[in-house]
Amino acid sequence: MTASKAVTAVAGTNIALVKYWGKRDVALNLPATGSLSLTLDRLGTRTTVVFDDGERDRLILDGAPAGDAETARVSAFLDRVRARAEIARRALVTTDNSVPTAAGLASSASGFAALALAAARAAGLALSPAELSALARVGSGSAARSIFGGFVEMARGERPDGSDAIAHALPEGDGWDVRLVVAITASGPKAMGSTAAMTHTARTSPFHDAWIASVPGDLAAARAAIAARDLPALGAVAERSALRMHAAAMAADPAIIYWNAATLAAIACVRALRAAGTPAFFTIDAGPHVKTLCHAADADAVAAALRAVPGVSDCLIAAPGPGARVVEAA
Ligand code: PMV
Repeated sequence: MTASKAVTAVAGTNIALVKYWGKRDVALNLPATGSLSLTLDRLGTRTTVVFDDGERDRLILDGAPAGDAETARVSAFLDRVRARAEIARRALVTTDNSVPTAAGLASSASGFAALALAAARAAGLALSPAELSALARVGSGSAARSIFGGFVEMARGERPDGSDAIAHALPEGDGWDVRLVVAITASGPKAMGSTAAMTHTARTSPFHDAWIASVPGDLAAARAAIAARDLPALGAVAERSALRMHAAAMAADPAIIYWNAATLAAIACVRALRAAGTPAFFTIDAGPHVKTLCHAADADAVAAALRAVPGVSDCLIAAPGPGARVVEAA
């Protein structure tokens, strides 16, 4: 069997401080609004792609063959890369997440960013970071942001083909010594996936339009806070963006509730830390875990406080990290 060059890429996940929750086009994953995030140095994905003479695409996920649904999602993504590179060969994709999938943090953001870069390069395509961002977005909207490091803004874009729905780095934030403390809460019943939940929110939540209308102002406030290195200002945006996103989802019919008791206890812990003088600010994604933005110097104390919250099973401290990159090509 002759094979193409095997290319390995790594990407860090990212956590949105101004959330993306709503699509203007489901097939192309075009967002209804922009979003703004921080790419992390931990909680990432390492993916190797090699095109060979296999009969179908194969996906090895965290050391074991992946199920049909996951393999089909990756295969559909590879079809785009093959069409662009004008090749027909199938691929072997080996991917490892740096946190156990069971922790509920294995993010599609780092996964599709690493896959976009490794697959494009293995297929012989030389794509710009902006082109990679548009490609990664088709796999998962948040993945478009993990192509870049540090603080990143994702544009809503206007074009129907999505070519301007891409992310870019916000270099004003480079070197700002912040941390995200990730508190893993005991998981509850399996939550709804983000695409189904976004569609359901848009269809049934009376708060959806108000949520969408609130995002441009939050983006402007977050940009200004990053440029000024004003953590309380950025933290205030992050908290209200997360709460408004969840409020829109909770108001859907039937309701989408991602939180559990430990989520609320962790929110209370962060607010108590702040009342006692530590600038710490929470955000929550489509799951029960609580991520807290703080200064590097406060991260150990914030993590210690969150570890003591009933229902918090673990706490990880992540720093800003680089964008997706190729680490091996042989
Ligand atoms: O792109 P997806 O399907 O992983 O959805 C991301 C949704 C949130 O994580 C809740 C918000 C965000 O902007 O990352």
